[in-house]
Amino acid sequence: MLIVRAMKTVIVTGASKGIGKSIASQLDKNGFKVILVARNTNQLTELADKLSNSPEVFTCDLSDTSSIKTIMPLLEKHKNNLCGLVNNAGIFIKNSFENTTTEDWDKQYRVNLLAPAMLSKLVTPYLKESTQAHKFIINISSTAAIRPVPDTSAYGSLKSALDHLTKVMALELAPYGICVNAISPGIVDTPIHSFENLDKESLDFVKSLHPLNQIGKPTDIASMATFLTNDSNNWVTGSNFTIDGGLSLK
Ligand SMILES: NC(=O)c1ccc[n+]([C@@H]2O[C@H](COP(=O)([O-])OP(=O)(O)OC[C@H]3O[C@@H](n4cnc5c(N)ncnc54)[C@H](OP(=O)(O)O)[C@@H]3O)[C@@H](O)[C@H]2O)c1
Repeated sequence: MLIVRAMKTVIVTGASKGIGKSIASQLDKNGFKVILVARNTNQLTELADKLSNSPEVFTCDLSDTSSIKTIMPLLEKHKNNLCGLVNNAGIFIKNSFENTTTEDWDKQYRVNLLAPAMLSKLVTPYLKESTQAHKFIINISSTAAIRPVPDTSAYGSLKSALDHLTKVMALELAPYGICVNAISPGIVDTPIHSFENLDKESLDFVKSLHPLNQIGKPTDIASMATFLTNDSNNWVTGSNFTIDGGLSLK
């Protein structure tokens, strides 16, 4: 008798570029079917074309809670195989505390905190019912949550709140075997920073902030996310993994 094993399915937000693209690519390589979420359909489709395990594209503006809810038919479709969610999408508006506007707070709140909370809320009933060996939610936070940096008052505060949310969710979902963890990257070379516009001296300065004297690569963060999705790591929950080249030691 031929037994066909359905592919484990994972949702990755912010998969169109940067860290999320790298996480989606590594998870695909590790045999997951990935649901790629972001606003830019072209970038998502371009990535989907390169992946192997029949990924699906879900175009969504995560700052809009009614748009987030339109993921429900996809959740229904994949309910038997859904094993996890990676809340990676995020925006960073750099500004002094005094100049940060209500709009800056609101935009970052919607994408960086409310969207992970709301999407996790929608996914949770499916994960509770899921018979997958390892069920997980991973929130991509930031070292800015634990290490205060000027000009990041809103971003850092909201990432701190995401860290707290991670721990409360870990407690509430532990009885259902769902592991909830955070990853806190240091400074990683992605489009969020536009490092390509920096001169050598400025780039060297950014590197020197890290004891390992290197800016992170998206794959550095994706490797930790991949570790957390591994079936053998189903006793890890409520933890926050700092992947930062030593940045937060300084
Ligand atoms: N890079 C770093 O140094 C660093 C450090 C610490 C933490 N982080 C965190 O790591 C995560 C990924 O950042 P990154 O550096 O990879 O940034 P990035 O290259 O700018 O990518 C951000 C991703 O989020 C998506 N996104 C942004 N707003 C969205 C919205 N309203 N709806 C749906 N998707 C949205 C973007 O897709 P679309 O534009 O297509 O929507 C993109 O895929 C973020 O949570 C960030 O806070 C990054």
